[in-house]
Amino acid sequence: MLVLGIETSCDECAASVIKDGKIILSNVIATQIEEHTPYMGVVPEIASRIHTNWISGVVEEALKTAKIEPKDLNGIAVANRPGLSGSLLVGVSYAKGLAFGLNIPIIGIDHVKAHLFAPHLEYDIEYPYIGLLVSGGHTVIAQVNGFDDMEILGSTIDDACGEAFDKVAKYYNMGYPGGKIIDDLAKNGNPKAFDFPRSSLHKGDHKYDISYSGLKTAVINQINQFWDGVSEKSPENIAASFQHVAIDMLIKRVERVIKDTNIKRVVAGGGVTANSYLRLRLKNIKGIDAYFPSLSLCTDNGAMIAALGSEYLNRGLFDDYTLTAISRVMAFRRGYP
Ligand code: KG4
Ligand code: ZN
Repeated sequence: MLVLGIETSCDECAASVIKDGKIILSNVIATQIEEHTPYMGVVPEIASRIHTNWISGVVEEALKTAKIEPKDLNGIAVANRPGLSGSLLVGVSYAKGLAFGLNIPIIGIDHVKAHLFAPHLEYDIEYPYIGLLVSGGHTVIAQVNGFDDMEILGSTIDDACGEAFDKVAKYYNMGYPGGKIIDDLAKNGNPKAFDFPRSSLHKGDHKYDISYSGLKTAVINQINQFWDGVSEKSPENIAASFQHVAIDMLIKRVERVIKDTNIKRVVAGGGVTANSYLRLRLKNIKGIDAYFPSLSLCTDNGAMIAALGSEYLNRGLFDDYTLTAISRVMAFRRGYP
């Protein structure tokens, strides 16, 4: 079975062909980072216009690399939620046109679920497991019981983890996107140089929730109050101290869930999973199996979309041509149905 996956939810225009749900025949990712760097953040209008220009070329490249013709495809999976509406619409419209022309099924995919599904491309992972999704738009801890069965246990109540990395880097003029830059700077910094605050929402209903807004503000305020760009107030020390707290808060939540559920498998996905300190801390949690994707499958890509699409298609589940883009999926904020 050959499934094409299309991903245009944010600033990556990506397409991939997956064979039999597991074998990556191609994984083309065209990033718009350069176009958004002057603004130090994704500009939705620019993103959707670039997707419009790039989508045909990216899909053609994915088919060419996979050495297949469009007529060989058995289905098209497309990220249709959540994300930037204009950007999602480009992928969804393109996928619908192609699927209709080829008379093959179309499958609308939840981008967040796809991130958590990415490690299945590389490992055989049994259910249930604790899913940790950390990206630029989401921070979710869930109990995952099946490929389409996810119970949200906790989420950020304000900024996403990756968003906090990006905003700290923006204020310190470190570059964009901030995640990898802070990760690299932190390698030469002292994580104890600054004692940044942690949110403590550890009561009742908020047991597994997380908040990044206070940490972000505290880190950003250093620039106003103390920043002289030298000595212990170096970018490396800011990066290391911030990263230490940001990741430690996540790990503490995961450890709490492991203790309460007694589930000994943790699967992480999303852009922030590329973070070297997060990977190290996950590996070091005692008595569990931790899975996270290779770096190329952490950030947005079409392979995770095609892989999850294959799971649905295998079970005869697909959408019709009324499929549309949904920018917000409230279920990823705990407390919503
Ligand atoms: O999953 P993704 O590509 O897009 C969304 O769905 O949001 O994640 C992008 C996020 C950005 O915030 C970026 O700064 C962050 O992932 N990121 C990292 C690292 N690489 C990417 N954050 C921390 N450390 C990294 N090495
Ligand atoms: Zn993503």
